[in-house]
Amino acid sequence: MNVHPLPSYSRRDVLYLAAGAAACLVMAASPIAAFAQTAPGGAPLKIATIGAGREGGALGTLFAKAGHPVMFSSRHPEQLNDLVASAGPLAKAGTVAEAIAFADVVLLVVPYPAVEQIGKDHGKALAAKALVMDISNPIAGRDAEDLIKWVEQQGGAGLATAALLPGAHLVRAFNAINYAKLPELAHRQPDPVGVPIAGDDQNALAIASRLIKEIGFEPVVVGGLAMGKYLNVRTPLAGVHTPDEIRQIAATLK
Ligand SMILES: NC(=O)c1ccc[n+]([C@@H]2O[C@H](COP(=O)([O-])OP(=O)(O)OC[C@H]3O[C@@H](n4cnc5c(N)ncnc54)[C@H](OP(=O)(O)O)[C@@H]3O)[C@@H](O)[C@H]2O)c1
Repeated sequence: MNVHPLPSYSRRDVLYLAAGAAACLVMAASPIAAFAQTAPGGAPLKIATIGAGREGGALGTLFAKAGHPVMFSSRHPEQLNDLVASAGPLAKAGTVAEAIAFADVVLLVVPYPAVEQIGKDHGKALAAKALVMDISNPIAGRDAEDLIKWVEQQGGAGLATAALLPGAHLVRAFNAINYAKLPELAHRQPDPVGVPIAGDDQNALAIASRLIKEIGFEPVVVGGLAMGKYLNVRTPLAGVHTPDEIRQIAATLK
């Protein structure tokens, strides 16, 4: 006979669920709750991409084609005309400051060494957004060794980005799905592709989940930002998985 009241949950699971429930109560009274309460469908959200290269360009295009106004940005917005044209009538380009001012939610899709300066220049404005989706990865061998070491000391990419963007409502997502595959993987039937996501803010997770569904993927919350270290290339969660596969893999990582 099983005498445990919650036999299939670890203490950590229970704490996580309790925190989620408490966050939902707070969220219901929050001024940005309206965003989450429109999930899974609702009014278009204005989306900024900081970084409009391979991954930022591909993701921003999916969002523009799904009906969301998108402003692509980089340090050289004048070079983004072709991208804007291919993303369709809802897309435009601007400076990083212009894109943040325009947006309800921001996609951060830059080489990881750029995140620190972006935090210094725009941290306050980013903290005011309901969601900053962090797609950027620190990658050993590509990025400087001291940066990689610092990220590890923070507890991985999720917590490191949180340290660089204090107060931002972060959700890591799409970190290890190759840009070139995004268009063909979107809306895959009959088995939608799963996107592991990690965040500490329930409202931001709800918005991210809504947006990810709208571009044809299935979000799977794998935990808080501390799990963000697994949302990177060269981890078991990297690549293309079904939602069930993501849940199974994530369970082995906790
Ligand atoms: N490529 C993929 O398949 C993929 C998949 C998942 C995640 N990611 C991650 O996404 C991030 C971007 O990768 P990517 O392949 O898209 O790189 P990319 O093609 O080189 O594009 C990088 C973009 O960031 C902009 N940028 C660089 N420094 C910036 C700064 N300080 N402020 C504003 N914009 C800046 C660049 O434009 P300017 O130089 O003109 O400013 C460019 O638009 C990386 O962290 C990567 O690990 C990539």
